[in-house]
Formats: sequence, structure tokens, C-alpha cells
Amino acid sequence: MYSHLILGLAGLCGLAAAVVPAPAADGRYTIAADGIRAQFIPYGATLTNLWVKDRHGNETDVVLGYDDAAYYPKDPGHPVYNSVPGRYVSRIGNATYKLDNTTYHTEKNDGNNTLHSGTNNWSYRVWNVTAVGNSSITFSIYDKAGSEQGMPGSVWANVTYTLTKARLGIQMWASADARTPLMLTHHTYFNLDAFKNTASPKVWDHTLYLPYSKRYLEGDDGAVPTGRILTAAPNAVNDFASAANLSLGHAQADPKFAGNCGGGGKCEGYNGYFLVDNPPADAVVARLAAPFSGIQAELRTNQPGIMLYTCNWMDGSAALKHTQGTANVTKVGRSACVAIEAHDYPDAINHPEWNRTTYEIANPGKPYFWNSSWTFGTF
Ligand SMILES: *[C@@H]1O[C@H](CO)[C@@H](O)[C@H](O)[C@H]1NC(C)=O
Ligand SMILES: *[C@@H]1O[C@H](CO)[C@@H](O)[C@H](O)[C@H]1NC(C)=O
Ligand SMILES: *[C@@H]1O[C@H](CO)[C@@H](O)[C@H](O)[C@H]1NC(C)=O
Ligand SMILES: *[C@@H]1O[C@H](CO)[C@@H](O)[C@H](O)[C@H]1NC(C)=O
Ligand SMILES: *[C@@H]1O[C@H](CO)[C@@H](O)[C@H](O)[C@H]1NC(C)=O
Ligand SMILES: *[C@@H]1O[C@H](CO)[C@@H](O)[C@H](O)[C@H]1NC(C)=O
Ligand SMILES: *[C@@H]1O[C@H](CO)[C@@H](O)[C@H](O)[C@H]1NC(C)=O
Ligand SMILES: *[C@@H]1O[C@H](CO)[C@@H](O)[C@H](O)[C@H]1NC(C)=O
Ligand SMILES: *[C@@H]1O[C@H](CO)[C@@H](O)[C@H](O)[C@H]1NC(C)=O
Ligand SMILES: *[C@@H]1O[C@H](CO)[C@@H](O)[C@H](O)[C@H]1NC(C)=O
Ligand SMILES: *[C@@H]1O[C@H](CO)[C@@H](O)[C@H](O)[C@H]1NC(C)=O
Ligand SMILES: *[C@@H]1O[C@H](CO)[C@@H](O)[C@H](O)[C@H]1NC(C)=O
Repeated sequence: MYSHLILGLAGLCGLAAAVVPAPAADGRYTIAADGIRAQFIPYGATLTNLWVKDRHGNETDVVLGYDDAAYYPKDPGHPVYNSVPGRYVSRIGNATYKLDNTTYHTEKNDGNNTLHSGTNNWSYRVWNVTAVGNSSITFSIYDKAGSEQGMPGSVWANVTYTLTKARLGIQMWASADARTPLMLTHHTYFNLDAFKNTASPKVWDHTLYLPYSKRYLEGDDGAVPTGRILTAAPNAVNDFASAANLSLGHAQADPKFAGNCGGGGKCEGYNGYFLVDNPPADAVVARLAAPFSGIQAELRTNQPGIMLYTCNWMDGSAALKHTQGTANVTKVGRSACVAIEAHDYPDAINHPEWNRTTYEIANPGKPYFWNSSWTFGTF
């Protein structure tokens, strides 16, 4: 279905169809480099598969997804699997914000709040494929003014995925023709064991090190920032800065672990934002590592923080890909994955006291640039 669409659009523009090859019969594009291989679909500009080597040298598919590319648009759960939501990611508190003396009302699609800009978010659209090489692929989107409720101005954006030796680079450029909220991310979901750890598919044994993230945003019960910036004490629930070997489950015995991500006390673990404070140029700001597979993933980014979500709301209904799981583990269960999303402070358009507004409001003529990479290795 995708190939027809792309050829159709190319025809409309008078472009030679040869400029952009059609995807394979399964709807996917494949790119590769030394020690790494990845597949994509135009829907949501989604990364569907990412193979890296485990400590035995076996290829391991470390991101979530579906075997059937045609299922992504149908999935009622739509967890934004490794896609690019937009134009303003994460939550907007009370579905409203003020810009240049005008109050805008966005769509309430997450309780009283807006999540990922509402129901016409970018992760629900079929992006155009604008370039494909052996080791890189580029998708683009034109988001017309008013496509999402309460979002003025048209936005043009590109995402380029590039593979180099054991590294996935993700870069996004965008520009707008009027002032508008603009904050992008790549919503990357990992299970670095590909759900093959027979002890447990849950990610509590994955370690996470956020060396520049002593501070985090306090969230309310709906995971919207309250405005307060807190500092985690060593070994407290939200500490991933004081040591390199803290596991995602290190604070499971702490009574604050259940309810740490809201949901009336029902959300255990993490769905919150960690500030990345003053990292040196090109520093690794997050290291996720899994003792079972021996795979580690290191994040570098130009963004000032990350959202950390430990998949509390995955309810066991989503099927795993055939590349993942065991005879007994065939679905994505609660707390069996972790999403790490680099972006600016969530809902800063409602918190001028954080001084982030200038980074989250696009101006015509001022291009937006988002840059991250994940480098894989073993330990
Ligand atoms: C990993 O590779 C080794 C050697 O090639 C093989 O024996 C083993 O079954 C593989 N393990 C998995 C989990 O695929
Ligand atoms: C939403 O509005 C209510 C009522 O004004 C207020 O108490 C609450 O803090 C607001 N929530 C957010 C996330 O802005
Ligand atoms: C917003 O309103 C204030 C006070 O009326 C005014 O000084 C300012 O110029 C307005 N800003 C814009 C961007 O319209
Ligand atoms: C949404 O706001 C309404 C009106 O302020 C309030 O009654 C309701 O409890 C809020 N819902 C949630 C989920 O916070
Ligand atoms: C994105 O938009 C779709 C409909 O286009 C909607 O069903 C979904 O709830 C939205 N996703 C989020 C996370 O808001
Ligand atoms: C891409 O891969 C094909 C097939 O392996 C090869 O013939 C071609 O030279 C490669 N192109 C580049 C730019 O590396
Ligand atoms: C893809 O390109 C066509 C032709 O330029 C354009 O009409 C369409 O809006 C683009 N689609 C997206 C998602 O940007
Ligand atoms: C997207 O990439 C194309 C090709 O490199 C470029 O012409 C265009 O300006 C880019 N768009 C944005 C918004 O950066
Ligand atoms: C973590 O590392 C510290 C030293 O940095 C060490 O004292 C501690 O025992 C380690 N904890 C675990 C659980 O490995
Ligand atoms: C997997 O399921 C089989 C059959 O139900 C059972 O015998 C086995 O113990 C299970 N293995 C694990 C690791 O849970
Ligand atoms: C924002 O800037 C003001 C004025 O420079 C400063 O006092 C305040 O601490 C800054 N806020 C944050 C969260 O950095
Ligand atoms: C993007 O980030 C990578 C590291 O992740 C860095 O090597 C590269 O220079 C950056 N690119 C730009 C244009 O800043």
C-alpha cells in the first residue's frame, strides 16, 4: 500500500519515481551499517526493527514493534512505537496555553490535558519518503496550520535516520511560517533483551545512568509537570545520577515507587522528565544496559532532558514481533519496556519561569534542529 502511495505522490509532483525506491513487499525499508541494521515504515516515520549484536555476537532486535506493517495504523493502543509525534510532544496542561496574548485551546485527548498535540498528531500520519540510501533514510511532513486543534502556523519537518558503526543517528529539522509551539522527539521504546530473558521480560533489571540528571520535574497525577524542579537524593526513586549501576527497579521496595508516575497510585515506576544539566559537548547523557543480553545503549543529544517511561500502561494486549520473546512471552506486558525520549522541558509553554519558551516556540526563519544518537555496544 505504501509503494502505491509514494509513487502516486511522486507522480503528482512530477518527480521521477526512481528518486525514491518503493519499500519491500512487507512495507519496510531496510538500511544497514557495520554491526547494526534497521527497518522503517512511512507511517509515523517509524523505526520498526533495530538489530544490534549481543555479547555472543547474535543479532538482537532491541526496539518494540509489529511484524505486520499494516497493523500500525489499526492498533487501537497506539503507543507511538519509535515514531515521531508532533508538533508539540508530551502533555499540555489543561489543554490550553497562551502565545502572544492569544489563548489557545488544544484537544483534550488525555484526561483534561493534551498528549502529543491531540488526535491528528504526526505519529498518525503517513510521512513522505524523500531519500533512501544504504545506511540512511529521510522522511518529511508538511503540517498545515490548524491540522491539530489550537496550533497556529504551518510546519515543514524532516527526520533523517543514519546508521554508522553500531550507531543510530536521528536528526530532525523543522521550520514554521508563523509562531507556534514546536517540540519534537523520537519516541524510542527498548527492551535490550528482546524479551528473551527467561527470568523476567520486565525491564527492572536494566540499569540506567543519567550522569547529568540530578534534577527532575515533579509531575502531577496525570504526569503533567507541576512547575517544581526537584533534586533526587542518592538512591531515591528518581535517582539515576549518583551511580552508574542503578537499575530501573532499584527503588521497587520504596513505597513511593508505586504511584511515582501518577494514575492515582496505580502507575509504578517512571513517566517523568529528567533535566540534563550542563553536559560537556557530545557527552553520553544516558546509558541503558541489560545484564542478560549484555547490550548497552548510549544516548548523545542536543536536547536539555529526557522523558523516561517504563511502560506501566502496556496491558499485555500488544503482540511481540517474531524476532522477540520466548515460547512463553509473546505479548508486551506491563513494565516490560522502557521509552527514552529526548526533548525540551514538557509543557514549558505554560511555565515561563523555566526560561524554555524561546526554545519551544518556533519563529519563521529560525530553523529548529534536533539531534540524537544511540551507540550500541556490549559489556
Ligand atoms: C547465539 O549464538 C550462538 C552461537 O552462534 C548460538 O549457539 C545461540 O543459540 C545463540 N543464542 C540465541 C539466543 O540466539
Ligand atoms: C488545571 O486547572 C486547574 C483549575 O484551574 C488547576 O487546579 C490545575 O493545577 C491545572 N492543571 C495543570 C496541569 O495545569
Ligand atoms: C501583548 O499585550 C501587551 C499588553 O497589552 C502588549 O504590550 C504587547 O505588545 C502584546 N504583545 C503582542 C505580541 O501582541
Ligand atoms: C477535569 O476538569 C474538570 C473540571 O475542572 C474536573 O471536574 C475533573 O475532575 C477533571 N478531570 C481530571 C481527570 O482531572
Ligand atoms: C493521535 O491521534 C489519533 C487519531 O488520529 C488518536 O487516536 C490518538 O489518541 C492520538 N495519540 C495520542 C497519543 O494522543
Ligand atoms: C549500496 O549497496 C549496494 C548493494 O550492496 C552497492 O552496490 C552500492 O555500491 C552501495 N552504495 C553505496 C553508496 O555504498
Ligand atoms: C507529501 O508530499 C506531497 C506532495 O508534495 C504533499 O502534498 C503531501 O502533503 C506530503 N505529505 C506529508 C505527510 O507531508
Ligand atoms: C528537508 O530536507 C530537504 C532536503 O534536504 C530540504 O530541502 C528541506 O529544506 C528540509 N526541510 C526542512 C524543514 O528543514
Ligand atoms: C554499584 O557501584 C558502587 C560503586 O560505584 C558499588 O559500591 C556498589 O556496590 C554497586 N552496586 C551494585 C548493586 O552493583
Ligand atoms: C514456559 O511454559 C511451559 C509450558 O507452559 C512451562 O513448562 C515452562 O516452565 C515455562 N517456562 C518458563 C521459563 O516460564
Ligand atoms: C530563569 O531566569 C531567571 C532570570 O535569569 C532566573 O532567576 C531563574 O532561576 C531561571 N529559571 C530556571 C528554572 O532556570
Ligand atoms: C549530532 O550529534 C552527533 C552525536 O550524537 C554529533 O556527532 C554530530 O556532530 C551532531 N551533528 C550536528 C550537526 O550537530
